[in-house]
Amino acid sequence: MRHSISDTSTLILDRRSISPERFSGRRVHREIVEQVLQHGTWAPNHGLTQPWRFHVFMDDAATRLMGQLSSAYRAHAGEKAMESKAEKIRARGERCNAIVALGLAHDAEGRFPLWEDQAALAACVQNMYLMCTAHGIGGFWSTPGFLSHPEALSVLGHEDGVHGMGLFYMGYPEGEWPAKGHRKPLEYVTRWTTE
Ligand SMILES: Cc1cc2nc3c(=O)[nH]c(=O)nc-3n(C[C@H](O)[C@H](O)[C@H](O)COP(=O)(O)O)c2cc1C
Repeated sequence: MRHSISDTSTLILDRRSISPERFSGRRVHREIVEQVLQHGTWAPNHGLTQPWRFHVFMDDAATRLMGQLSSAYRAHAGEKAMESKAEKIRARGERCNAIVALGLAHDAEGRFPLWEDQAALAACVQNMYLMCTAHGIGGFWSTPGFLSHPEALSVLGHEDGVHGMGLFYMGYPEGEWPAKGHRKPLEYVTRWTTE
């Protein structure tokens, strides 16, 4: 055995999506964000395309980002915009000082289909979640529709050719770490062929 099965299992099962509303406001340091992203990049990726791109917004920039995204939400939702939701988006920038805009750099002329780079990015995010969990930091991958509004794209500032893949919020949860979630038993999602 190369690693503790018990520790590995506990880490995986302990991982939870923890929304910024549940963050305490304690600051996440840049060194930790770097470590989380660094480990994200060790995810499997077909052909070493390394399609992940990160735009990190920290501290005042995180607050500013969420204020601007609140405005992008209003523009996107138009008459259906809800004040409570706009306020929720804005307030996330006060609760959370480390927000990563996730991007995908896919070469459409390249050797591999889009879904493989998307799968690699998702594996990268899982690594990020696990590193966060090890630190006692909650991660939250969020992909609301308004992020595709031109106003949002402009503030997210992805480079040309990089497709937005949502936001990853990082923050220490207030109080207890959330309880274990739910999953279908393995027999509902697995078929075995043995002969
Ligand atoms: C690609 C992707 C996009 C997601 N986007 C959102 C989102 O926009 N809003 C949200 O509340 N959760 C989002 N989630 C988190 C899921 O809601 C969460 O993973 C699910 O509820 C299971 O909870 P757990 O991560 O704590 O196990 C997303 C997860 C993935 C993988």
